[in-house]
Amino acid sequence: METFKVASLIFLLIYTSIGWPTHTVCKSNNLEVYYRSCDPLQDFAFTLDSCSGHTIESVNIRAATVLRHNIGELFVTVRLIVNGKSIPLFSTQLCERDHPNLSFCGKKKGEHIYYEGPVSVNIHDIPQGDFDVTVELFNEDQRTIICSNFTVLSH
Ligand SMILES: *[C@@H]1O[C@H](CO)[C@@H](O)[C@H](O)[C@H]1NC(C)=O
Ligand SMILES: *[C@@H]1O[C@H](CO)[C@@H](O)[C@H](O)[C@H]1NC(C)=O
Repeated sequence: METFKVASLIFLLIYTSIGWPTHTVCKSNNLEVYYRSCDPLQDFAFTLDSCSGHTIESVNIRAATVLRHNIGELFVTVRLIVNGKSIPLFSTQLCERDHPNLSFCGKKKGEHIYYEGPVSVNIHDIPQGDFDVTVELFNEDQRTIICSNFTVLSH
């Protein structure tokens, strides 16, 4: 019990002090986008095809991980964080049980997945200002598969 407590405390201290690094996805005169994984056990790579103006048409994503939960169904939610409050922006289902449309749909806990490819987002007219956006992918049991915090600085 005591050992467990000490071990968790050490883990917490290490995680809190180091965490995942903040990655730069985009940096131009009028748009800056940074992200940080909010899943304590894994980090991710994201790249944007272009970073000028206030339009993002497609995002190229690379993610590799060993699944800690089955993906029978997969959902994504995008939330805007304003003054510590989270406002839902967008949510959709990525994997359906009967239509495993993506290569990693249907993978089981313990399996290795690797995904690389474009995701069309079609955001035209990114509003001006600084804001935080949290993107979370979770399965049918509400278990987190991927979680990422984005910071957008738009001038
Ligand atoms: C991610 O964003 C949420 C909501 O703002 C925040 O509570 C959490 O601490 C952030 N996590 C990281 C690792 O930045
Ligand atoms: C998956 O593919 C089926 C058949 O092409 C389609 O009807 C369904 O809308 C797709 N689902 C998702 C989540 O893209």
